[in-house]
Amino acid sequence: MRLERLSMPGCDLLVDVSAGVPVLVHWGAPLGDAPLTHLAAAVQRPVPGGSIEQPPALSVVPEHGSGHPGRPGLLGHRRRGVAWAPRFQPGSVTRADGSLTVVAVDPVAELELTTVLELGDVLQVSCTVRNLSSSRYLLQGLGITLPLPAHASELLTLHGRWTREFHTERRPFATGTWLAENRLGRTSHERPPLVFAGEPGFGEWSGEVWGAHLAWSGNHFVAAEVLPDGRRSLQLGELLHPGEIALEPGESYRTPTLLGVYSGSGLTAASQQFHRYARALPAHPTRPRPVLLNTWEAVYFDHDTERLQALATAAAEVGIERFVLDDGWFGGRRGSTAGLGDWEVSPEVYPHGLTPLIQHVRDLGMEFGLWVEPEMVNPDSDVYRAHPDWALVTEGYEPKLSRHQLVLDLTNPQAYAHVRDQLHAVLAANDIAYVKWDHNRVLVQGSDATGASGAHRQTLAAYRLFDELRELHPTVEFESCSGGGGRIDLEILRRTERVWTSDCNDALERQTIQRGASLLIPPEVMGAHIGPTRAHTTGRSQSLPFRALTAIWGHLGVEWNLLELDQHERESLAAAIAVHQRFRPLLHGGQVVRFDPVLNGTHASAHAHGVYADDLGEALVAMVQLTTGMSLVPAPLRLPGLLPEAVYHVQEISLGGKRPLIEPLALSGRQLATIGIQLPVLAPESGVLLHLAVNP
Ligand code: GLA
Repeated sequence: MRLERLSMPGCDLLVDVSAGVPVLVHWGAPLGDAPLTHLAAAVQRPVPGGSIEQPPALSVVPEHGSGHPGRPGLLGHRRRGVAWAPRFQPGSVTRADGSLTVVAVDPVAELELTTVLELGDVLQVSCTVRNLSSSRYLLQGLGITLPLPAHASELLTLHGRWTREFHTERRPFATGTWLAENRLGRTSHERPPLVFAGEPGFGEWSGEVWGAHLAWSGNHFVAAEVLPDGRRSLQLGELLHPGEIALEPGESYRTPTLLGVYSGSGLTAASQQFHRYARALPAHPTRPRPVLLNTWEAVYFDHDTERLQALATAAAEVGIERFVLDDGWFGGRRGSTAGLGDWEVSPEVYPHGLTPLIQHVRDLGMEFGLWVEPEMVNPDSDVYRAHPDWALVTEGYEPKLSRHQLVLDLTNPQAYAHVRDQLHAVLAANDIAYVKWDHNRVLVQGSDATGASGAHRQTLAAYRLFDELRELHPTVEFESCSGGGGRIDLEILRRTERVWTSDCNDALERQTIQRGASLLIPPEVMGAHIGPTRAHTTGRSQSLPFRALTAIWGHLGVEWNLLELDQHERESLAAAIAVHQRFRPLLHGGQVVRFDPVLNGTHASAHAHGVYADDLGEALVAMVQLTTGMSLVPAPLRLPGLLPEAVYHVQEISLGGKRPLIEPLALSGRQLATIGIQLPVLAPESGVLLHLAVNP
């Protein structure tokens, strides 16, 4: 065993680099300064009965060819099935500041495998396989495996669907394999590439927790496997369709980066590490997030310059800072059946172009934003009529439509150039500060010019298009939307300043969706809107205070026809926006905290969350009643993690016209963590917002 150690505050990584492919001997709590001399003996496992004589350690890319009894990390073969079970030998090890590069080679299979490990705000791992042979290698999959200790025996997995993203489930991490696969060609609403494992019953503030996220916006799999010999691991990787990646001689494939987090004190601290990573990305916004108005649920496809100007005036009056014109401004796009692919301002709806509207918006002191869906095409569009061969379909089969649209093959250079040039022209000709980039359908049976599945190459082409447009328009901000939260991951966040979390603006649903999304992304990139009183995706009606209490926690927006509001609603909305703006530096710069709900059985009738300032001198916390609870009086809200000896002045902040229910009080951090604050009886779909400050 030859050990290398990488460290960050609160976490040590020990890597054995002697065997070829690196083995994570320890990823978790810091091990202290004692020498590691005896560690090799301490981690030596007995040979299990019925096993081969020298069972291999569980490496980052486990090898069937070495006798690994579980899921291999690398799958592939050459013609006639050869080179299907490689066994790598040590190549080279390079240590740089905080990172380790380990090269392994298999001279028989003629493959080279390079693993890069880096420990910074999070653990970053990527692998690259290179074809050293003069024959083609068909890659079927390359997943990254993270071994976990035996006491990580509970999983927290994520699930969802359109309008119901980021729901969590707890399950035993027990015998066999739990597997989630995404073949939808985007990050997906259904299976975010994110998983946590921890000691049984781990909570927001307690228990060891490990988390893993695949930073990738295409197909993927997440596996959690327990072997018969007791070892367990998480494995994440891109899911490749059969034949999708063929490595010609000298070519290589690099996995998406796997991001891992470890916390010795629960889930809140684990997700804060993902947030730290996201906040350090180059695209991460540094200026205050402008409160926006999005026209979608205000006017849908019913565009009219004068009406939109009136909407903009009403928006500016309530404190909106950015006006975003959603779907319907281009080509023949008068409804969802036509126009995608024709990215030119519709002369029918905007005879004088967008300038009169944009100028009006700018004169009101707001920025202007525009909706686009660059990777899509409607068969009923000029571009499709001229170039039906630009769709990402498979010849010989009737293409499957979704929302009347097809995917445009961005791996086709002409199709790519068409979209890039048209979007560039719109951005160059107009004063546009923001682009909402949508992606409304899944990929089915899409083959690119190679004849194989285009999912992998399409994902890379989409990244390239983002990158190119960002370079051409460096001051424009971008949002990733995909029918709501279908493309939320930490690779797209290298290219976007915001994500649209969900098409569901129902505040009750949003409470759970945003809580789940906060496991991965920080609030300043999480789009959250105050929608109409009656939510169009659920039919539920909710009070403005409750809608505001839900939306102020993200990058705030309003998606409501303000021209229909009465005076009281207008004032209440303006007041809610002002509260968000007052606390924006804390909301968007502090540390996200979630508190464990007090359960009745498995039912959580209320939950609480907030942000703590980095120096813990200030906090903003919400307690939200979701449904009626079993107990008539709610349990006190206990707030762990503040400064134990400091005295916090607690004050309820009135939001959206609601009168305060709690008298101001002062308690120490220790008292807040142990006794907590007794809250009044709250009606379902309501809550309280508390501000805590050591120096109010
Ligand atoms: C998707 C988005 C919505 C809206 C519509 C427009 O559903 O998620 O926010 O932009 O498209 O067609």
